[in-house]
Amino acid sequence: MIITQIFFSQTNNRSCMSSCTIHEITILPGHDKYGNPEQFEPIVIRPGDTISIVGPTGSGKTAFINDIEVFAQDDTSTGRTVLVNGEIPPEEFIRDPSKKPIALITQNTKCLADMTVGTFLAMHVRARRIDRPDIITETIDLANQFTGEQVQAGFRISALSGGQTRALMVADAILISNAPLILLDEVENAGIFRERVIGVLKEYCKSVIFVTHDPLVSLLSDRRIVMRHGGVEKVLCPEGRETHIRDMVSRMDVTLCRFRERIRAGELLTEQGFPV
Ligand SMILES: Nc1ncnc2c1ncn2[C@@H]1O[C@H](COP(=O)(O)OP(=O)(O)OP(=O)(O)O)[C@@H](O)[C@H]1O
Ligand SMILES: [Mg+2]
Repeated sequence: MIITQIFFSQTNNRSCMSSCTIHEITILPGHDKYGNPEQFEPIVIRPGDTISIVGPTGSGKTAFINDIEVFAQDDTSTGRTVLVNGEIPPEEFIRDPSKKPIALITQNTKCLADMTVGTFLAMHVRARRIDRPDIITETIDLANQFTGEQVQAGFRISALSGGQTRALMVADAILISNAPLILLDEVENAGIFRERVIGVLKEYCKSVIFVTHDPLVSLLSDRRIVMRHGGVEKVLCPEGRETHIRDMVSRMDVTLCRFRERIRAGELLTEQGFPV
């Protein structure tokens, strides 16, 4: 049985980043692929922050969130340093996966366990010593808010679709692992409702970093980190200046989603059938 690392790489802490011992995570500059020092001011992530990482293919987006996931100490290819509450993080965050306050979910995150969703979650709940019988149902219900393809407790975990798996991972990261910082690497095409995910993450006071090529996800974030040649080129803080465009893109996205669903359903999109 192989179980994806996410279930063993998150915090035991039951409270959100604001009330647990982590108040902020800081990323200090390193260098780009050519060895040029990065020029950005330290990036500080606080509870409830939503950040997106954008940039061309190969520009270092994944490397950036991997630095956070491993709490880089000038010991990765980028030379960056990650601090927790302004200090070098405790050894247990790095060495003990069960103490790690970060969940990383990628498009390749898979659950390869020969058991049902219910059994799998129950195992995780026991491992976390959580004493709330309804948490499994809550987690499945939350996952089902993120995906159109409903997940049920009796489904085999290995038979879930990509969208169902990601939805379940995010729900688990929020409720069972209770990770205060969630890193999502290009999960937008995985059949999950992005706006809903972002809304729920904010509701639960999670900090989240999206690596994304999706305009809507970028526009829904508070800050945008722009990568180039392996380095952080700039950090954009729209501070409300993009609201108009964001709302427009959100409306376009609804229309696009409708088209997508109809194409998936095998329809021919004739002019009369256009959803408006
Ligand atoms: N600052 C850096 N110094 C040295 N190597 C780097 C740096 N940043 C990224 N790399 C390396 O460059 C390669 C591409 O980086 P990465 O996978 O992070 O790009 P990406 O933006 O995520 O691309 P994609 O959009 O295709 O997923 C990787 O092998 C990574 O280790
Ligand atoms: Mg990548």
